[in-house]
Amino acid sequence: MNFDEIIERRGTHSMKWDMMEPIYGVPTEDGIPMWVADMDFRPPDCVTQAVRAMADHGIYGYFGDDTDYKAAIGWWMQTRHGWDVDPDWIFTTHGLVNGTGLCVDAFTEPGDGVVLFTPVYHAFARVIRAAGRRVVECPLVNANGRYEMDFAAYDALMTGEERMVILCSPHNPGGRVWTRKELQGVADFARRHDLVLVSDEIHHDLVFPGQDHIVMDTVDDGVRDRLVMMTATTKSFNIAGTHLGNVIIPDPDLRARFAGRMGALGISPNSFGMAMATAAYSAEGAAWIDALVAYLDGNRQLFDAGVNAIPGLSSMALQSTYLAWVDFAGTGMDRAEFTARVEENARIAVNHGPTFGTGGEGFLRFNLATPRSRVQEAVERLQKAFADLQ
Ligand SMILES: Cc1ncc(COP(=O)(O)O)c(C=O)c1O
Repeated sequence: MNFDEIIERRGTHSMKWDMMEPIYGVPTEDGIPMWVADMDFRPPDCVTQAVRAMADHGIYGYFGDDTDYKAAIGWWMQTRHGWDVDPDWIFTTHGLVNGTGLCVDAFTEPGDGVVLFTPVYHAFARVIRAAGRRVVECPLVNANGRYEMDFAAYDALMTGEERMVILCSPHNPGGRVWTRKELQGVADFARRHDLVLVSDEIHHDLVFPGQDHIVMDTVDDGVRDRLVMMTATTKSFNIAGTHLGNVIIPDPDLRARFAGRMGALGISPNSFGMAMATAAYSAEGAAWIDALVAYLDGNRQLFDAGVNAIPGLSSMALQSTYLAWVDFAGTGMDRAEFTARVEENARIAVNHGPTFGTGGEGFLRFNLATPRSRVQEAVERLQKAFADLQ
């Protein structure tokens, strides 16, 4: 585990590195890609060994028998998250954007409303709209740099035509680890408005010291009959290219509906992803995650100290995730200007706030999962790009 190691990713068909110039115009030679959420680190050795063993064997036929995979999930959820998962509840999708699309397809009809607490991970709205459903935005409250929920306001926004709510827990962007009380509020809200509750917990392993992620299924027994849980190895272990996600559904009726869509679309897992994920959910994987989180904690402290020292910039205090959410409103600049300073002057590719929905307008999102020297370089470039504010 050497998270300081600089590993060349240019020219490897990496979306983060090789699409930075075509998408953002940030030059490949000396740009710093801090946008899409993958990490510039190798996964634990156990994952690489699993790929090697498959390559050594050299036959790449259809995957069969997910008993070991599901046992690994069960072990991980029990030991790391205090959550008991029945293997029969688990579906393996082509990642969690795919899982989200399948939920929209299985549990709503065209024209139905799907509720999002915005700003939130941009693919949710993209998938909902592409499926001909309506995004119903419930804006989070930015209470002095910390996102909170206001259920009285959200109740007033409901029309009776909403069928589903998607929660991002922990939250991307902003990094909130929701408290039990907040999660109970979401469960009550879903019940009050008769919504299927999809809880995307893909960031649940990347939680900083002092925070305690609570699995939605453990919050309230009464919400199980409307609950869909989503988890994955991909974000935790940096294996997003495997395109593998878990959609975990305790309720038999919801499960049957979801199984119907999986069957209709012929979705089945890829063998490399299954081997890597099974290897990752292990004691070795757990030790690696602990070291990773400690490293990311150092990165966020370095980034926040450097960025918050620039007058007008404010980086939200992350409780989880490696995705810093920086508020530029205090600069008094319009969006085009602060974005140009980051992309053209600092040569850093970032995610643009408005893609996350209402509330994201004055923000840019920075991915900090890269060797610390690169985070340091990014901070120095930002300080230079906004030097006139000092
Ligand atoms: C909340 C959330 N869900 C899902 C994903 C992506 O999932 P996948 O790569 O499995 O489609 C991301 C990626 O950043 C995310 O932040």
